Amino acid sequence: MSLQIFRTKRIEAEQESDYGLKRCLSKWDLAFLGIGAIIGTGIFVLTGIAAATQSGPAVVLSFVIAGFACTFAALSYAELAASVGGCGSAYGYSYAAFGELIAWIIGWDLLLEYGISVAAVANGWAGYFNNALTAIGLALPESLTKAPKLGGLINLPAFMIILVLMLLLIIGVKQSAKANNAMVFVKLITIAVFISVAVFNVNPAHWQPFMPFGWFETLPDGKTTGVLAGASIVFFAYVGFDAVSTAAEEARNPQRDLPFGIVSSLAFCTVVYILVSGLLTGVVPYTDLNVSSPVAHALELIGVNWASALISTGVIAGLTTVMLVLYYGLTRIIFAMSRDGLLSPFFCTVNPATQTPVRVIVICGVIMAFIAGFMPLGDLAELVNIGTLAAFVIVCFGVIVLRITQPEMKRPFRTPFTPLFPVLGMISCAALMAFLPALTWLRFFVWLVLGLIIYFSYSKYHSKIGQLA
Ligand code: ALA
Repeated sequence: MSLQIFRTKRIEAEQESDYGLKRCLSKWDLAFLGIGAIIGTGIFVLTGIAAATQSGPAVVLSFVIAGFACTFAALSYAELAASVGGCGSAYGYSYAAFGELIAWIIGWDLLLEYGISVAAVANGWAGYFNNALTAIGLALPESLTKAPKLGGLINLPAFMIILVLMLLLIIGVKQSAKANNAMVFVKLITIAVFISVAVFNVNPAHWQPFMPFGWFETLPDGKTTGVLAGASIVFFAYVGFDAVSTAAEEARNPQRDLPFGIVSSLAFCTVVYILVSGLLTGVVPYTDLNVSSPVAHALELIGVNWASALISTGVIAGLTTVMLVLYYGLTRIIFAMSRDGLLSPFFCTVNPATQTPVRVIVICGVIMAFIAGFMPLGDLAELVNIGTLAAFVIVCFGVIVLRITQPEMKRPFRTPFTPLFPVLGMISCAALMAFLPALTWLRFFVWLVLGLIIYFSYSKYHSKIGQLA
C-alpha cells in the first residue's frame, strides 16, 4: 500500500476564497452564528429528558461536565480555525495535520454530526410547534406528529420545517445571517423571560434528592443512566460552536474573528445552560420533565400560562436558527470535500445567481427531512454526540501534532497551556463517548465503515492532491 492516504494539504488560511463564496460575515455575525447554532433542542428539550431519566436535579452537573469538555475543544478549534482556516472545519484541519485518510474519516463523521443534528433539532422544534398548535385548537392528528418507533406515521412538522429552511439557504448567506441574527435575539428574550419567571418560583425541596440516579449505570436494556450518562446526552446542547469555523471563507477577517466567535458563543451558552437547568429542576419536580416541551410545560404546571405561551413561540423561532446554522455548516463541509476531489465535483458548483451551492442544499435538505420525519429525537441526539465527540478528540490532537510538525505556522490564536489543555480535551471527550449506549457505538461504526468503502473505491482516486502529486 502506498503512502498516498497520508498526503497532507497545505495551510490555506492566507488564501482567498476563489470559489465564489462571498466574504460578508463580521465578528458579531460569527458570534451570533455560534449562539444561533448552540442554544436549542439540547437545553429546551433534552434537559427535561436527562433530568427525568438520567441525572435528576444534578442535570446542572451534567451541563458543567459537558461544558468542560467543550471548553478544551473550543480552544483547540479556535487555534486551528485561525491558523489552518478553510470552510471544512475539523475536516480541513485534519487534512493539514494527519493526511487524507483521517481527514476523510473526520469529514465523513462531520456529515453525520451536522446532518443528523439538523434532523434532531427539527424533532425538538416539532415538539414545541405541536404544543402551540394544540394550544390554539388546531392540533394535528397524533399519527402525523410522531416517528413510527414512537407509534406514529411521520413527524410531519419536523419534515416540513427542513424543506422551508432549504429555501432560505438557497436565497443566500447574508440574507440568512440577517434572519439568523433576528431569531437569535428572540431566543435570548425567551430565555430571559424564563429565567425571570422561574427565579421567583423555585422550591428548593425539588432539588432533593439531588442525584437520584447516581453517577453512572448501564441498565438491563442497554441504556445508560446517571449524571455522567446525562452529560453525554446534554452534550448535544453544546454542539454547534464548531459550526462557526465552517464559515471561515465567508468571514471578513477569519484569523481574528473566528476565535472570538467560537470562544465567546460557547462561554455565553455555558452560563445560560447552568442557569436554565438549575432553575428548571427547582421549579417543578424532575420527574415531571420527561415531555417534548419541558420548559413550557414547567411554567404551565406552576400556572404562569402567559409565559409558557411566550416561551413556546420563542423556542420555535430559536430552534429555527439552530437548524439553519447547522444546515449551513453541513453544506460548507460537503463543499470543501467535493472541492478537494474526495466527493464528486457535482457538489461544489456555486449557483452564479444566488452565490450558494444550490445542489448540495437541495440534496441534503431532502435527505434530512426524511430522517427527521421518521426517527425519534433520543436516537438522533446520541448519534450526533458520538460523531461530534470523535471530531473534537481529533481536533485537540491536531493542535498538538501541528505544533510539532509545523512549528513555524502563523498562529493568530494559541490554545493556552498546550499540550495540557488539548490532552484534557481528548480525555474528557473520549470519556463522554464511553458513557453512550452500545447501540449508538454500533450505528457510528456502521457509518464509518460505509465511509471507508467510499474512500477506498472513489475518493482515493479522485483526490485533487493525489492528482497533483
Ligand atoms: N446545540 C444544538 C441544540 O441544542 C444542536 O439544539
